[in-house]
Amino acid sequence: MRIYIDSANIKDIEKVMNILPVDGVTTNPSLLAREKTNPMEQLKAIRGMLCKGQELHAQVISSLAEDMIIEAQHMREVLGEDIFIKVPVTPEGIKAMKKLSALGVNITATAIYTPMQAVIAAKAGAKWTAPYVNRLDMIGADGVQVAISIHNMLTRMPASSELLAASFKNVEQILKLAEAGAGAVTVAPDLLEQLLYHPLTDKAVWDFTADFESITAKGSTMREL
Ligand code: G3P
Repeated sequence: MRIYIDSANIKDIEKVMNILPVDGVTTNPSLLAREKTNPMEQLKAIRGMLCKGQELHAQVISSLAEDMIIEAQHMREVLGEDIFIKVPVTPEGIKAMKKLSALGVNITATAIYTPMQAVIAAKAGAKWTAPYVNRLDMIGADGVQVAISIHNMLTRMPASSELLAASFKNVEQILKLAEAGAGAVTVAPDLLEQLLYHPLTDKAVWDFTADFESITAKGSTMREL
């Protein structure tokens, strides 16, 4: 399962990247707004932090298909042709996806709340389809189940589109998607830290160190032997 950092904050992205094996960064206009900087400059800075093979996803703001296409082309000129352009699954968005995918633009269909929206986006050429898991949970739906339905349908479709589930609030939601074989998840930095954390892991390491030091010296390691 690919794992992306859902953030536009340089420090947070850096902190996660220093530890976890991640496949890129996803942003959205709200995440960029939190940074209170020029959004394109912020995206350029994030772009500069990525290694080969790591993806950057950034969203168009325009609401009409023709404008989305021009905006996407401008974003590719500034940020590189391998950027993933996030396009919402509105009727105008789907119209833009069809044209952009024909031009070879990488598309992430976003703001997905139903499996049917994901199917249409896949047919329109989106490489990734992004349902909002926790936002679905918050309106009484089952976000994980919606994401799993999307994954199952996409794997049976001839279009080469995959699930990139977004909007998580706990590790359980992510684990269930990993168990179901989800293609990718994008997760906020604070929750990404929780993916690895277990207090008993810390205790085990502390106990091993204390036992080792009991027969050597405080602060010693194998290097001193
Ligand atoms: O890009 C969409 C995703 O970031 C939404 O997450 O936590 O705002 O529901 P959240």
